[in-house]
Amino acid sequence: MTAKNKLGTESYKGVRDFFPEDMRVRNYMFRTIRETVESFGFEEYDASILEPAELYESKTSQEIVNEQTYTFTDRGDRRVTLRPEMTPTVARMVASGRRELGFPLRWYSIPNLFRYERPQRGRLREHYQLNADIFGSNSIEADIEIISLAHKILTNFGAQESDFEIRINNRGALKNALMQNMNDEEAEMELSKMDKGNSELSVKIETSEETRSIIEALKERGISNVRFDQTLVRGFSYYTGTILEVFDTNPDNNRSLFGGGRYDNLTTLFDDEQIPAVGFGMGDVTLRDFLETHGLLPEIFRDPKVFIGTVDIKPKDAQDIAENLRANNIPAEINITDKKIGDQIKLAEKHAATHMIVLGAEELKNEKFTIKNLDTREEQEFSFGAISEQVAFILK
Ligand code: HAM
Repeated sequence: MTAKNKLGTESYKGVRDFFPEDMRVRNYMFRTIRETVESFGFEEYDASILEPAELYESKTSQEIVNEQTYTFTDRGDRRVTLRPEMTPTVARMVASGRRELGFPLRWYSIPNLFRYERPQRGRLREHYQLNADIFGSNSIEADIEIISLAHKILTNFGAQESDFEIRINNRGALKNALMQNMNDEEAEMELSKMDKGNSELSVKIETSEETRSIIEALKERGISNVRFDQTLVRGFSYYTGTILEVFDTNPDNNRSLFGGGRYDNLTTLFDDEQIPAVGFGMGDVTLRDFLETHGLLPEIFRDPKVFIGTVDIKPKDAQDIAENLRANNIPAEINITDKKIGDQIKLAEKHAATHMIVLGAEELKNEKFTIKNLDTREEQEFSFGAISEQVAFILK
């Protein structure tokens, strides 16, 4: 093959490759998200990326279904869609398990989602999205809990209230007001136009009683960056009550970070039993932009990891030391090359090792070696058996 015939190494348009340095950032973000969501009692679920196409065709966003889904026909002639959002999937799972599940249910997931969008800042064709939803509660306490959780996620990343704004509205109240002058279908059309910014609100909406109570209750919990926004509509027609979006207050990053709301009828797609629900989705692309914009990404994501360099000895001679470290939850990589020691150090740094041990005939004979911190260059000598001292030095 000539060079011309080779395949390109770039990824498909609008999707990402995650090199280890990107994975470290992603893992850091997911870890913080998981810790926060689980601290509110949420349990994790998951499902397949593939769903039957009709799941999205009845009750979701027309724009997503008509213009943004990746749909194909499988070898058995079924129409299949790569999920563009998690909400229909989780509604299906909750409907199927409703006899056994303990309501109100707090569930979360961090699925990879696919939408055929025009790639731009904050918008890709693939993203990860935290979904946190409460099923089986009609009470505004659930709405309040969901909004508090969104707030807590950002503050746990170190954000201040002035860095972001939570905007809420009530899609149910909005639709009712419109329906004084038009039928259901026309009202949905109007809302969809408003969502795209193509139409101004034709009716004057007062803050609903419910929205006001939610804002009040959040204030009592110490959350004060929430405001009523009567222009907020949301693109999905399944929302029936409170809707919310969270925006970065920095104008360089004007995409919404979170979007969600109350959707009390979605499980009726699957059976007659209505299970009220409220939740949100938060994307990893806009979250990372937000954290970078506000200087909230820690510089060092590396966890301790030891590279054991070898000079004129066999990898197996380093095995005991490596096993002792591993038994103490410290990753250890033994050199398997015949590179010179200087090149082994370079390799250790490229492999994101934090510490280095060099073993040669001398070290084996004296049963002593030095551990070097590759960041601070600090070194200390240890005897082979002093495992807890070695571990303490590495974790320091
Ligand atoms: P959504 O507003 O379409 O809502 O998405 C929620 C969040 O996901 C957005 O605010 C954004 O952070 C991120 N996001 C969406 N599309 C993209 C994209 N193409 N590229 C990067 N990030 C994106 C929903 O999907 C609802 N199903 C959320 C929900 C859960 N409602 C109730 N429960």
